[in-house]
Amino acid sequence: MLDIADITRRTGGRTVKSIVFDEETIARRVAELGREITDAYPDGELLVLGLLKGSFIFLSDLVRQIHRPLQVDFLVATSYGNDTVSSGRVRLLYDPETELAGKHIVLVEDIIDTGTTMKRLTEVLRARHPGSLAICTLLDKNIAPEPPEAVRFVGFPAPPAFLVGYGLDHAEDFRHLPFIADLE
Ligand code: IMP
Ligand code: MG
Repeated sequence: MLDIADITRRTGGRTVKSIVFDEETIARRVAELGREITDAYPDGELLVLGLLKGSFIFLSDLVRQIHRPLQVDFLVATSYGNDTVSSGRVRLLYDPETELAGKHIVLVEDIIDTGTTMKRLTEVLRARHPGSLAICTLLDKNIAPEPPEAVRFVGFPAPPAFLVGYGLDHAEDFRHLPFIADLE
């Protein structure tokens, strides 16, 4: 159990309003998602593609709960800068080197807000002719008017707050928190 002093030590004294998903809750859901993904791909080559940096902790926990052969690679894109409001722009900074053609791709994201990032990335990835393409997001703010149909695995619906921890940042801080908190 984390107490206030421990949280304060981890955040350098910056306030988090409340813990929205604690470590145990996240671990339970990630294990379920691993089972869902294992069951969804009985055959074929599976490539788990993490969107950096936000997915790094989620992906590392998730792949250990997927009980079938798979490969891992990463994408780097940027949309927010240091802002807490979506700017609607997505820039690809790093492309996966792994061959995508013919493979089942599971694109792993920390959080979907407006859906712009995932819409743009699914367009880019579809052009590489994967065997299939699905999105696995830990959190979904679900305010997208038309969620991309590829969103197949969702950890939790997220409240309309700015969340940090378990990979999610605010201006690069707080990614290392083992829980997900609402930033004050
Ligand atoms: P979208 O393109 O509007 O769906 O925004 C998705 C991206 O915005 C994610 O990859 C996150 O990096 C970032 N993001 C959205 N909401 C939050 C949040 O509450 N905390 C931290 N990052 C967020
Ligand atoms: Mg981010």
